[in-house]
Amino acid sequence: MRNQTSDSREIDIEFRAVTKRYDDILAVDNVSLTVERGSFFSFLGPSGCGKTTSLRLIAGFDQPTKGDVFIGGASVVGVPSHKRPVNMVFQQYALFPHMDVTENIGYGLRQRNPKPAKQEIIKRVDEALEMVRLSGFGKRRVWELSGGQQQRVALARALINRPTCLLLDEPLAALDRKLRREMQIELQTLQREVGITFILVTHDQEEALSMSDRICIMREGQIIQSGSPRELYDEPVNKYVADFVGKTNFFRGEVVDVSGPCISVKTESGQVLVGKQSKSAPALAIKSKASVAVRPEMISICAADQRINSKDVTIQGQVMNRIFLGEHSEYLIATEGYGDVMVLSPKAIESDSRSFAPGDHVSISWGPEVALVLGDT
Ligand SMILES: Nc1ncnc2c1ncn2[C@@H]1O[C@H](COP(=O)(O)OP(=O)(O)O)[C@@H](O)[C@H]1O
Ligand SMILES: [Mg+2]
Repeated sequence: MRNQTSDSREIDIEFRAVTKRYDDILAVDNVSLTVERGSFFSFLGPSGCGKTTSLRLIAGFDQPTKGDVFIGGASVVGVPSHKRPVNMVFQQYALFPHMDVTENIGYGLRQRNPKPAKQEIIKRVDEALEMVRLSGFGKRRVWELSGGQQQRVALARALINRPTCLLLDEPLAALDRKLRREMQIELQTLQREVGITFILVTHDQEEALSMSDRICIMREGQIIQSGSPRELYDEPVNKYVADFVGKTNFFRGEVVDVSGPCISVKTESGQVLVGKQSKSAPALAIKSKASVAVRPEMISICAADQRINSKDVTIQGQVMNRIFLGEHSEYLIATEGYGDVMVLSPKAIESDSRSFAPGDHVSISWGPEVALVLGDT
């Protein structure tokens, strides 16, 4: 029997209350999750939060201390890694330097028992080379290839076994920024073309946001929130997620009023800021500590003496820094009571009369509808 979700999309990987303990370290702490077949799924979180361990539990390099892991609807606890329909691409590609590209890619097939016929191996290696756009590179030595090409050899080597799920542990960490961006696009395209499930581990939020259908955000072995990039960005469950996914300004204070989804927070400077409760977050009680979170692109700047819509929150400040980013200018505004606030101003409204220089006195403002109130945990 296969697991089916209610809308009948198939589940490829499932954790049920999985815990992995190394002596007194809880690497994975009671995690339950599902990964849809054919989707691009990411584990995102800081170093040491249990991402690699989660991947190793799927690959079969580790077994859970408690709980159950399912692949394609069947429990795989105790099943050795080579009997699982998954393949892993490691942080270090671990290519064999003394072999050429073809030999590297065909290695897994040659180790099989029974070994496939020579013609079959050649055919499958050629297919894999084509998949990663390296046709014609078969006779090259690994050390003759660029970082991006080595990455593609590692991918081809993992895909040749025709896994149902590919596991990628920070596969782009060794590449420089520009190449990383190119490989992100290639990985996404490859995933769509081959149609198998990709599970990516990364600490790079931009990478996770740009590539994934779903992201699972981890902290200290636990899942804090999982959802689509949009859901995590627009409806973070708490401050940790809001801080991890994209850039956010936080205005700290205490909840003084709750009316429906609207929450009022009184900050230390005595100002009352109003925002919405995040749909995915637990309800906030009066007097609890909270932060009003406002994304930099939701804040507008104007000259300090200009009048602003009276419903909008307004804070006075002084421009500390302006960085030109092409489509946007990024301002750092020093405010009284709230420290530095980041504002992203789109090029379209950055005409000469509306751009500001360091030292300028400005007002920053936003409408209450763009502010989210989040618990401090
Ligand atoms: N084989 C191991 N033995 C002991 N502790 C380990 C082992 N593997 C991982 N850990 C610990 O488990 C925690 C999670 O590690 P890991 O899954 O590698 O994190 P991440 O990939 O998110 O950086 C860390 O505290 C790490 O030190
Ligand atoms: Mg890791």
